Amino acid sequence: MADKSMEGLNEFSGKESVIINTDKKMRVGIIGTGWIAESHVKAFLNQPDVEIVAGCDLIPGKAKAFFEKFEIEGAKTDYANDEEMLADTSLALDAVSICTYNCQHAPCAIHALKAGIHVLLEKPFTVTVEEAVEVMRAEKESGKVLSIGFQPRLDENMKMIKKIVDSGELGKVYYIQTGGGRRRGIPTPFGTTFIEENTAGIGALGDIGCYSLDMVLNAIGYPKPLTVSGYKSAFFGTDPNYSGYKQGKGEEYAKKFGVDDFAAAFVRLEGDVILDFRIAWAMNMDTPGDTILLGTKGGLRIPSTECWNGTVGGPMILYHEVCGQQTSTEIPIINPKGPGLFDKKIRTFLDACKNGTPAPVPSSQILYNQAIIDGIAKSAELGREIEIEIPEI
Ligand SMILES: NC(=O)c1ccc[n+]([C@@H]2O[C@H](COP(=O)([O-])OP(=O)(O)OC[C@H]3O[C@@H](n4cnc5c(N)ncnc54)[C@H](O)[C@@H]3O)[C@@H](O)[C@H]2O)c1
Repeated sequence: MADKSMEGLNEFSGKESVIINTDKKMRVGIIGTGWIAESHVKAFLNQPDVEIVAGCDLIPGKAKAFFEKFEIEGAKTDYANDEEMLADTSLALDAVSICTYNCQHAPCAIHALKAGIHVLLEKPFTVTVEEAVEVMRAEKESGKVLSIGFQPRLDENMKMIKKIVDSGELGKVYYIQTGGGRRRGIPTPFGTTFIEENTAGIGALGDIGCYSLDMVLNAIGYPKPLTVSGYKSAFFGTDPNYSGYKQGKGEEYAKKFGVDDFAAAFVRLEGDVILDFRIAWAMNMDTPGDTILLGTKGGLRIPSTECWNGTVGGPMILYHEVCGQQTSTEIPIINPKGPGLFDKKIRTFLDACKNGTPAPVPSSQILYNQAIIDGIAKSAELGREIEIEIPEI
């Protein structure tokens, strides 16, 4: 790789500095210019080898106003939807960030991959496992990079969980309790796209449940899920008197609420591992418990965050035995200097596209995350345990 720019000096690998090749600028488009698209654009603007050339949104004028806010000149926005933008070959797009609400993840990802464009797709992967499989078929056919937007995984404390498991300190991990919750945290700060069935498709289960699953499944190597007994409810979201809604919006939001605000499940994973899961956007409790991993040699407690967002809430505790003595070791929180998680998410994606290396958060792993979410929803609807079925890619 030619070293063209000192401006591009960056620290993404932890120890080594990486020089970014600015010979070729990546031509990037943004699909969906809502709330999270702002974090994508800010991080793209920090990269010396990116040109943001286009953006689109279903709401007329939204993409134009979005780019004006960021003073991005020359980016084309006169498209009615993603398909129109992707069909504009004059853009010569290399990659897109898909920042649409959940129900539009699969169609947009399939359109972009079929157009031969690399995709960074926001979490959760999709709404159903069938959609995830369709996206992966398009990925396989295209040979392009598809990475799913799990930036907490790039946090040094999250990496430490995996390091501890890989070190063998825990022995064989046989039981995991994961998930988290908020006392009043149904996400409606900018409208109702997170709570309507036709835009979100899934509630807390997919929105923050996907993070808690990734935290532990990534650490233990993403074993295949086998069976699930799931439960979901929506007692808070459908209540017009829910105290977390903006004043005067209770009636409207409660009527629109069409997803879950709480889910719990008991999941069996390949390799004789049990996963005990609970997640809440709202509940009458501060936390439904810390994340814990029980192993034959040691156990790990990962404190929950107050406003659950899928990260490590405080120093982790390793419970182990030294020469027959029960002891515990505190793992201090790491506060690394340097780029933030969104910058890392964007940079690792761009590097995979440019270098032809695997996606930083590959669909092959997140397929199992989605299969669990989908299994919990299906089992909850049936009111019984089910086998998790994943179609062939
Ligand atoms: N990684 C994170 O930290 C993080 C944080 C928040 C949200 N998210 C995820 O990002 C996604 C978007 O969340 P948001 O809060 O920005 O939602 P939002 O509703 O604010 O924005 C989504 C936008 O996408 C547009 N859109 C939908 N379908 C489209 C299509 N086919 N073509 C063009 N535009 C389309 C909508 O009109 C809307 O403006 C969600 O799936 C959410 O889970 C991720």
